[in-house]
Amino acid sequence: MQTERGGGAGRPVRLAVIPGDGIGPEVVAQGLALIGRATELGGPAMDVEHLPWGCGHYLEHGEMMPADGLERLARADAILLGAIGDPRVPEPVAVRGLVIRVRQAFDQYVNLRPVRLLPGVPGALRDKGPDEIRFTVIRENTEGEYAAMGGRIHRGSAHEAATETSYVSRHGVERVARYAFELARAQGVGVTSVTKSNAMPNSMALWDEVVEDVHAGFPDVPLRSLLVDAAAMFFVRQPERFGVVVTTNLFGDILTDLGAAITGGMGLAAGANLDPTRRFPSMFEPIHGSAPDIAGKGIANPVATFWAVSMLYDHLGFAPWGSAVLEAVGDVLAAGRVRTPDLGGTDTTAAMSAAVRAALRPPA
Ligand code: IPM
Ligand code: MG
Repeated sequence: MQTERGGGAGRPVRLAVIPGDGIGPEVVAQGLALIGRATELGGPAMDVEHLPWGCGHYLEHGEMMPADGLERLARADAILLGAIGDPRVPEPVAVRGLVIRVRQAFDQYVNLRPVRLLPGVPGALRDKGPDEIRFTVIRENTEGEYAAMGGRIHRGSAHEAATETSYVSRHGVERVARYAFELARAQGVGVTSVTKSNAMPNSMALWDEVVEDVHAGFPDVPLRSLLVDAAAMFFVRQPERFGVVVTTNLFGDILTDLGAAITGGMGLAAGANLDPTRRFPSMFEPIHGSAPDIAGKGIANPVATFWAVSMLYDHLGFAPWGSAVLEAVGDVLAAGRVRTPDLGGTDTTAAMSAAVRAALRPPA
């Protein structure tokens, strides 16, 4: 059964917030301040539930979230996640116990990550500007190399061995490909499907076949196929050739860090983990980590979280507010007066946040 999630007239949006670890709480606090400002200006009201889960919770209780965690999250319209990770907790425990767990349990099969250079931002590419770097990566988010299908035998012996099987299903590829083609059609751009089928003739061949099948329903959308190594090169050499990129879980993970690097760094990059069917809440996050080296210093860039908030509005049916947030961010970055250290400035998280709040205008 399809439940109505957000955008429903008359009642506040139920927003579950997991600030997490390290700089997570610092940037999430600013994300909520921005949401608060938008509400003041006539934007949607939000009913915020704080969930103090993550590595702190693990160190105290031995689990990343309580046993009924997913049930509680399922009641929300959307989830805002800060960052997860603490040097005292093994990374696979932290990551699989929360981030990947939610993505898989809530069937958030689309991980949408904009790769867009905003004016005024120093990108890593000398000769490419905002007109050339403007595309979207759609990363398959529930299976592939992250399926955790594998095992280890003969631990500690000379014959020790391990497998990690990439699980690629027709159903899984079909739905993410369909999302990519629909987005590309709406934006009037083409789709680039990124695989490694020359060297991986099973899972990647299936991927290619299914993408072609889905493409048959979108004859107006140009489709190109690229190998992931070449795709990495073209992200740097010719980013203008991309419109919508659709790729596997691991390839998408790697390519989107590269995408962040060419658009101003991890301080700006955000991702939306979407269940397009809306059976479950979708989850919005800055894609940076918990950054323990700068945690508590008040210098993390909150813009990645603002971008996540912008996508949250889009998904919940408040696209004009999503655009308003992105415009406010764009205005502040273009003016260049306030900049956190990752962008070469000396301003604080709070200063950057205040500037964006001040720049926020209600949609016309
Ligand atoms: C990301 C992160 C995660 C991923 C980690 C934390 C599991 O790198 O969201 O890009 O690999 O998906
Ligand atoms: Mg990553």
